[in-house]
Amino acid sequence: MKNILVTGAAGQIGSELIPVLRARYGTDNVIAGLNRTPLSSKVSNAGPSMKVDITNISDIEKAVDNFEIDYIFHMSTFLSALAENNPQGAFGVNIAGLTNVLDVAVDKKLEGVMIPSSIAVFGSGIPTEDTPNDVMLKPTTLYGIAKVYGELLGNYYFQRYGLDVRGLRLPGIVSCMDEMPTNGTTDYAVQIFYGAVQDSSYTCFLKPDTRLPMVYMPDAVKALIDLAECHTDKLVHRTDFNVTAMSFTPSDLAREIRKKIPDFVISYDIDTLRQSIADSWPSSLDDSAARLEWGWHPDYDITSMVDEMLSLVSQQLNSRPI
Ligand code: SER
Repeated sequence: MKNILVTGAAGQIGSELIPVLRARYGTDNVIAGLNRTPLSSKVSNAGPSMKVDITNISDIEKAVDNFEIDYIFHMSTFLSALAENNPQGAFGVNIAGLTNVLDVAVDKKLEGVMIPSSIAVFGSGIPTEDTPNDVMLKPTTLYGIAKVYGELLGNYYFQRYGLDVRGLRLPGIVSCMDEMPTNGTTDYAVQIFYGAVQDSSYTCFLKPDTRLPMVYMPDAVKALIDLAECHTDKLVHRTDFNVTAMSFTPSDLAREIRKKIPDFVISYDIDTLRQSIADSWPSSLDDSAARLEWGWHPDYDITSMVDEMLSLVSQQLNSRPI
């Protein structure tokens, strides 16, 4: 990898991945591809960016040509609840847009593409605890269906065209950021910290006992880069690695926050759409394939993640230190 394009640069992951890639590969060699949402200042002030609407294949071609791109981290997506509310938009971005990215990568002979998948690929008929890597995939959401399509198409492009496509199934991601994630099912696990620091309270849209696999952003970024950099000979899987660091419910997370903010109160106002999506996803994952094939191991558990999140969010909001 010499020159890297990151699509979805303004999103939850893109805005955190880019500074780490720039520190590693050089500021001018990592191009932020954005469409509608403005970039966070830590991305826009520090290096090159370009409008890349992935539903318009010529935008991707221009970015690849202008910056002599040889690797794409393809992060742009409609998250789960947004996709249910805007299926046409999700088809455009999550299916047609992803296909455009892979087609340009083949056409321009890129070194490789990273296409993150999600716990949303799983559906009914499989174990929901320690869900194995290689099981039947029957997602019930448009977001999950598009992620299965991405995994399968990535494998197909590898076999058919020799394009080095890799991907991992990210769980919910907890992070401190300028922008909140937009309408995903696991967003509560970010929002709760802002409620805790600002008002010592948070109203959660998922039920207290909804257990989902999660990872803290620094570990998610590390996973993406480690998988992209690992030697191809090590890989048995390619586009479909389970990855997880912890599993918790809203009530578990509230209990952990209360250790630092004793008067924190959580209440519940259930969003039926997001609850039904969460209920279709696993509670925990078996990520042994990722551990074995490219050495995945998370650095953060729920306690160290909560400690760091509370301190970063309070610095960001310039509020009382925790
Ligand atoms: N965080 C995503 C969502 O909630 C799951 O991959 O949609």
